[in-house]
Amino acid sequence: MRLILLGPPGAGKGTQAQRIVEKHGIPQLSTGDMLRAAVQAGTEVGKRAKAVMDAGKLVSDDIVIAIVSERIDQADCENGFILDGFPRTLVQADATEAMLKSKGIELSKVVEIQVDDAILADRVSGRYTCANCGAGYHDTNVKPKVEGVCDRCGSTHFKRRPDDNRETVVTRLGAYYKETSPLIGYYYAKGKLQSVDGMADIDHVTGEIEGILSKL
Ligand code: AP5
Repeated sequence: MRLILLGPPGAGKGTQAQRIVEKHGIPQLSTGDMLRAAVQAGTEVGKRAKAVMDAGKLVSDDIVIAIVSERIDQADCENGFILDGFPRTLVQADATEAMLKSKGIELSKVVEIQVDDAILADRVSGRYTCANCGAGYHDTNVKPKVEGVCDRCGSTHFKRRPDDNRETVVTRLGAYYKETSPLIGYYYAKGKLQSVDGMADIDHVTGEIEGILSKL
C-alpha cells in the first residue's frame, strides 16, 4: 500500500498516519519530521531548512525530493509507506511520479483530509507531543488520561513545535493554498484522489480512511 496524505497544516495527517502505521505496519514518511530531525542534528540540510520552517515557508523542492527518494529505498518501505506532507508542490508531485516509476512502484491512493480554515489555528496552536516517545496531544481535543503524564510511555516531558503558533499558521496556510492545493486537481485527474471529512472526530476520520484502504 503506497499512500499520500494531503491536507492543510493541522488537518490531521500525522494523527491519521500514526493509526495507519499501527494497523497496517507500513512506515510513515513525514518530510516535516525528517526535516526537524535534520535541524536537531545540525546537518547541512537542517541548517538550510531551519529558518524557512520557522517562518512557515516551504523548504526547497530539491532538498525534500532527495530526502524522500533516499528514504523510500530503505528496507522497511518494501511493502508500502505513507507519505505525510509530501509531495507539497507540483514540482514535487512530478518528481514523485518519476521516482516511483523508476523504482517500479505504483501509487495506491491519495487521501485528502478536508478541514475548514477556521479551526486549523486552534488545532495547530494547541498541539504538543511527548518529548520522549513522540505521542501527540492537544490542549483541549486530545489530553493525556493523567494530566502531565504521557499515556504511552509515562514521561512527564512534552514539547511544542516552534512553527506551531497562530502567526506562522497564516503563512503555512498561504503556502498550502498557493503551492499544495493544486495537487488535489492533479491527483483527481489521475483517478487517485479520495477525500474524507477531517472536521469529524479522530475515530470517525480513521473509519472513513479505513473504508478507502479496505478497497485497495
Ligand atoms: P509538516 O510537519 O508536514 O507540517 P504540516 O503539513 O503543516 O502539518 P502539521 O504537522 O502541522 O499537521 P497535521 O495535518 O499532521 O496535523 P496533526 O495530525 O498533527 O511541515 C512543517 C514544515 O516543514 C513546513 O511548513 C515546511 O517548512 C517544511 N516541509 C515539510 N514537508 C515539506 C515539503 N514536502 N516541501 C517543502 N517544505 C516542507 O493534528 C493537529 C492537531 O489537531 C493535533 O493536536 C491533533 O491531536 C488534532 N486533531 C487531529 N485530527 C483531529 C480531529 N479530527 N478532530 C480534532 N482534533 C484533531
